[in-house]
Amino acid sequence: MINRRQFLYLAGAGAVNLLDMNAWPLTKVGMASSKDKDVIPDLELSLTAAPAQVQIFPGEPTTVWTYKGQVTKGDPDSLVNLDQSYLGPIIRTRKNRKIRIHFKNNLPAESIIHWHGLHVPAEMDGHPMYVIPSGKTFTYDFEILNRAGTYWYHPHPHGRTGHQVYGGLAGLFLVTDDQEDRLNLPKEKLDIPLVIQDRLFNHNNQLIYLPRGMRDSMTGMLGDTICVNGRPDFKLSVSTRIYRLRILNGSNSRIYKLAWSDGAPLTVIATDGGLLEKPLRKKYVVLGPAERIELWADFSKYPVGTSLELVSKYFEPAMQGSAMGPRRGMRGGDNLPNGAPFSILKIDVAKKEKETRSLPQKLSSIERYQPRDADNYNSPRRFSFFMRHMRGLINGRTFQMQAVAPDEMIRLNSTELWELSNDERSMGMMMMPRPHPVHLHGKQFQVIERSGSLHSGYVDEGWKDTVLLMPGERAKIVANFTEYKGMFLYHCHNLEHEDMGMMRNYLVT
Ligand code: C2O
Ligand code: CU
Ligand code: CU
Repeated sequence: MINRRQFLYLAGAGAVNLLDMNAWPLTKVGMASSKDKDVIPDLELSLTAAPAQVQIFPGEPTTVWTYKGQVTKGDPDSLVNLDQSYLGPIIRTRKNRKIRIHFKNNLPAESIIHWHGLHVPAEMDGHPMYVIPSGKTFTYDFEILNRAGTYWYHPHPHGRTGHQVYGGLAGLFLVTDDQEDRLNLPKEKLDIPLVIQDRLFNHNNQLIYLPRGMRDSMTGMLGDTICVNGRPDFKLSVSTRIYRLRILNGSNSRIYKLAWSDGAPLTVIATDGGLLEKPLRKKYVVLGPAERIELWADFSKYPVGTSLELVSKYFEPAMQGSAMGPRRGMRGGDNLPNGAPFSILKIDVAKKEKETRSLPQKLSSIERYQPRDADNYNSPRRFSFFMRHMRGLINGRTFQMQAVAPDEMIRLNSTELWELSNDERSMGMMMMPRPHPVHLHGKQFQVIERSGSLHSGYVDEGWKDTVLLMPGERAKIVANFTEYKGMFLYHCHNLEHEDMGMMRNYLVT
């Protein structure tokens, strides 16, 4: 029995799909695999996206869209399935491995997978021009060039990314390397991935997406149920050991201000692009959509029986630069606006065990860029992000599948300084300035300067692929564009903003 909500959810997707089929350019299905058929991969996987049912709550199962995977060649431990979760399998592999992935689309909609944070050739990056229709397969071939880190994968069909990720399509992509091995960080059951997402469910346990239409799109989808690894009321039972917690904000638009409930500082060891040079202690960490941090969580200092929470603390997300006070009911989800405080997960220290590890004081080496390292030091590229007339804009332009403006052309092997700014201003009573988490496809970058009031919660010391800009904030980043020519995306990772066109191509030639 399909209930009404479920029907709307699935029918909505199908309807858009029909239109898109004619409007979008031809896809090059399996192109790279035929071209590179001589490459012998170290690891070969299949990933299938399809509707499924998951038991999230007692009673009616929830209809989701999910990735299922299989290792067809190579280390069988390269895929780890999460129990009772809509999330896709965790892909675990090493730097320099050659990977082949056969993506089969069994959704009633077109789709394509993007490897968020990985530096792969343009044709392998999941650009929406490569979407494949229902029933088709796209084969990816790429080598892992990234250093060890917590990356992830998700769909990227234009105008449908928010809907598909929200429906359940996302998974972690964990990379290790020799350098990281030498540190002897907590592994296996002490290495815990935590994907944080918010969802809205109806009384039949079904997902609700954008119930208030355009109003929700403008803020971004916000749910009132916090899921960790696809489970609400997530509990972690730990022993008195040190854990590595890999945290991904996999939410469409929610921002978290992470802290421990007992006020202990967070010990951050990694960001989007892997390990920091040295651990950092933070009272709280602000994590925008798509950002990752890794924590060194030392539970050896707590007596057995302690319970602890990872919480998101109160913050005022939309009022920076505005003299007016908060206006009730104007900040997205009526139940749980962005910035409201809540518990994310509970931790029970359940078992006494001996711990011998200690926190390495040097985690990796990162060569810090100086502004002067950039070839365009004297004339940085400026990109301004804002919404107008219900469209997402970057420098006043909205996404077009193949469009590249003159200021979006980049020379291969150049090192560039970009100034990103969130130029939202409060535009009268009905408009709230919006945060924009800005993401670049391609290589990881460094944040070298920024303004902002949540400043002390940002971790800008490491490699990044997404940088959160609260209203009125700006950041200077340095990136170098090596290895691959071609068209890559940069966009707001508030997925509703992205779908509304706050996305553009940059072209490396
Ligand atoms: Cu995770 Cu283009 O995005
Ligand atoms: Cu990406
Ligand atoms: Cu945005």
